[in-house]
Amino acid sequence: FRTLDDADLADKRVLVRVDLNVPMESGRVTDETRLKAILPTIRTITDKGGKVVLLAHFGRPKGRDESQSLAPVAKALEGQLGRKVAFASDCVGEAASSAISRLAAGEVIVLENTRFHAGEEKNAPDFVEALASLGDIYVNDAFSAAHRAHASTEGLARKLPAYAGRSMESELAALTKALEAPVRPVLAVVGGSKVSSKLELLGNLVKKVDILVIAGGMANTFLAALGKKVGKSLCEHDLADTAREILEKAKAAGCEIVLPVDAVVAKEFKANAAHRVVGVDEVGDDEMILDAGPETVAVVAQKLDGAKTVVWNGPFGAFEMTPFDAATVAVARDVGKRTRAGTLLSVAGGGDTVAALNHAGVAGDFSYVSTAGGAFLEWLEGKALPGVEALRR
Ligand code: 3PG
Repeated sequence: FRTLDDADLADKRVLVRVDLNVPMESGRVTDETRLKAILPTIRTITDKGGKVVLLAHFGRPKGRDESQSLAPVAKALEGQLGRKVAFASDCVGEAASSAISRLAAGEVIVLENTRFHAGEEKNAPDFVEALASLGDIYVNDAFSAAHRAHASTEGLARKLPAYAGRSMESELAALTKALEAPVRPVLAVVGGSKVSSKLELLGNLVKKVDILVIAGGMANTFLAALGKKVGKSLCEHDLADTAREILEKAKAAGCEIVLPVDAVVAKEFKANAAHRVVGVDEVGDDEMILDAGPETVAVVAQKLDGAKTVVWNGPFGAFEMTPFDAATVAVARDVGKRTRAGTLLSVAGGGDTVAALNHAGVAGDFSYVSTAGGAFLEWLEGKALPGVEALRR
């Protein structure tokens, strides 16, 4: 696909799809990672004398809903960018076109939430047309929304000359290095609570990676499928057959599966609950697994000794409650340390995962941390992302 290096942007109205779907609490942005991610694209366009028209969704409103306005996000972006950011109260029509016509070269505007219009999610031709009329060039810098075939993520790329933004470029480069053309052996960590939400992902990864560490609540389903007693642990007993099929698939593909060998168990799901460390054969009927134990951390470290690339999605335990964050923190620090030492390329993604790495204080030590949640998962599932495919055409 083409990048900003290939585009003549002087005096052009550049429609840039970004991801401004940032966490907010009482009207304030609480995590500006996604805002920081788009600064290189905005600055490249303004440096080249283009007019930056930012398009984005926020939340999942059904029609116009002022509580889902992008106005406060535009303010926060102004802080990050260190320059004025204009705002238009609609992303199409008179409000948008007149505000854009007032922009000088090198200026920036945010248009209101694209999801205030039903045509956005429907990728409706007339809505695509209305958006396209506002710009000369389209840039997609929202990898994290590229799994949606919406008007602003997919339709526009077919209507206007289309380019990948800087963040899109680095996401794709990192993800390619991690899974499409990796230095082997590749070790993947897949954690999180449910197997059911990650079936396709596991099915794809066993074909692609050399070692797959199954962690978190979903590991309980595998342990139970192998005849272990998991007590009151989170466990999808009805997926026992599916779990066994995944293990078979892995074997056939030559992928080594690593499951927890010990666990931190408690009788209550709450922070600092009384707990003990047991082997996975010794979980009591009234106990639940809330984290992997130190033996498991040691096994993973030993597997990491042989690995060259790590892909990480999902925590080992209930990392939001002490002390059940221990395994996630320990493995994250280990991966971070090896990455800094230059022996490992590490890529992580997914909402919870990034929160867990931040909690461990090592997000900055990883080779790459994706800004994407759902899009990262779909990419791990081996799916084509419509927003990326549209850029390639
Ligand atoms: C995200 O936050 O992962 C993206 O912005 C996509 O949001 P969506 O799941 O509401 O489409």
